[in-house]
Amino acid sequence: MPAADKAFYVTTPIYYVNDAPHIGHAYTSTAGDVLTRWHRQRGEHVWYLTGVDEHGTKVERAAAAGGVSPQEWVDTLVARDWLPVLHTIDAANDDFIRTTSERHVLGVQRFWEVLRENGYLFPAPYQGFYCVGCEEFKLAGDLVDGDGEFVGHKVCPIHGRPVEELEEENWFFRLTAFTDALIAHYEANPQAIRPASAYNEVMSFLRQGLVDISMSRSSVGWGIALPWDPNQVVYVWFDALLNYATAVGYGEPADSELGQRFAHTWPADVHLVGKDILRFHAVYWPAMLLAAGLPLPGTVFAHGWLLVGGEKMSKTKLTGIAPSQIIDTFGSDAFRYYFLRAIAFGNDGSFSWEDMSARYTAELANGLGNLAARATAMVGKYCQGALPAAVQIGPAEQVLIDAAARAATGADACMLELDFAGGIAEVRAFVELVNGYITEQAPWVLAKDPANDGRLHTVLNTVCESLRIMAVLYNPVMPKAMSSLWEQLGAQQALGHLADQRIATVATWGQLPAGTQVTKGEPLFPRIEDVT
Ligand code: ME8
Ligand code: MG
Repeated sequence: MPAADKAFYVTTPIYYVNDAPHIGHAYTSTAGDVLTRWHRQRGEHVWYLTGVDEHGTKVERAAAAGGVSPQEWVDTLVARDWLPVLHTIDAANDDFIRTTSERHVLGVQRFWEVLRENGYLFPAPYQGFYCVGCEEFKLAGDLVDGDGEFVGHKVCPIHGRPVEELEEENWFFRLTAFTDALIAHYEANPQAIRPASAYNEVMSFLRQGLVDISMSRSSVGWGIALPWDPNQVVYVWFDALLNYATAVGYGEPADSELGQRFAHTWPADVHLVGKDILRFHAVYWPAMLLAAGLPLPGTVFAHGWLLVGGEKMSKTKLTGIAPSQIIDTFGSDAFRYYFLRAIAFGNDGSFSWEDMSARYTAELANGLGNLAARATAMVGKYCQGALPAAVQIGPAEQVLIDAAARAATGADACMLELDFAGGIAEVRAFVELVNGYITEQAPWVLAKDPANDGRLHTVLNTVCESLRIMAVLYNPVMPKAMSSLWEQLGAQQALGHLADQRIATVATWGQLPAGTQVTKGEPLFPRIEDVT
């Protein structure tokens, strides 16, 4: 039984440090961050883990090509690229795990000792194919015919490159022992793999039957040595998957701080992954946990790919766009908003400057940004910056009050299902409604005659109160711009920190007190000149 006060535990894949990150990696980490911030605003304790996968052939070869040792290579890239990108996208992760760290290495060795003691490992020869891009043993049926320079070769369908033929003596993990247990688990817990297409893919893979799989490599040097056979290293995936456990204190004494963290964090509620690595997370990983007697994760969510020319953007194929290329122009908030709003989570999508620019201008600069600028400017101009009281709530205001409640409930339901685009759409609909309201009520016309003061005050109060709700609901997606909005509304003083506002009570009307100091600040989403 998990602890009653168990944290909501969210993870991203740990990314290979063969090269610098691109927007595909930033996409998963952004989704995890938005999910994390949303659950925090529901009042839950969340633990958000991300990190890097530093071992294996792919990294070893990248280091060799760069003329340095693998450790130097990963140290340089982690410091120069992988840690900074979290700052670039404004991620609020609690931890960052590296697989070369001692806590991880010891945890991995401990784990595989346990599986050996439990009788799930045996030595045997492996003969077959291996894709270094995937770091995966491939069956003949997994491969496709190559084209271009690889015509006549069998290639990996993801990386488009020939696979290598291996023949080595390895230790095997008795995966076949868990086929039935996994099928039963997923039949009883269909939400454990999402979306439904991913669930179906895994179920048909399981029903075809599993084969036992190498858990070590004898021809690879860069990895974690098997404690009982130091000439072999742990197969990189069976090292990497364990990061989710070693990072939160797996194997540490129960009364130690880390042991307590494990008790209060395990298992993960959501493992976010790209669909390229679904099988590792939904088949091998839970089989490992069953073999160790550990509880299984709540959900593996496999999202789609960012495509370039119809293919998965990839480090191996050098088709990556660096997140900073977009964020330097549009800012981190717009980056976070765009990718979660424009691509249904679970589907593939492409990035285009034109589409990003069009949505930025229409939805952020002209939509929300302009609404906030108009409202704060009018409170300044007509009320000396003091939020006026609503004098009489009429039918037009009631429409917004009801819509705010629907937006909060609707967005919450979507976010719990990891439907980020749906959650954003709920808030966006509310923004549009309020924009329509301000146009209809035309406070700039009301302001011309003091006889309308009551009406003018009601309208400005209603718009600012609506902006308060938008700031809270959009904060997980766009934390920088929303904290600026929060300041402009004077809400910090009256209501405290934005991140401490709760989804459950956000739509309770009338929280911003009359008299609050409202100021028109810098534009939330400055206009962007030529981006193409
Ligand atoms: O697979 N579109 O690392 P990796 C969307 N180390 N997401 C993408 C993407 C794209 N074009 N490209 C990458 C590994 N990603 C292993 C993981 S976990 C125990 C070990 C994201 O560097 C997506 O989350 O190849 C994908 O699954 C992950 O990066 C793969 O990163
Ligand atoms: Mg990859």
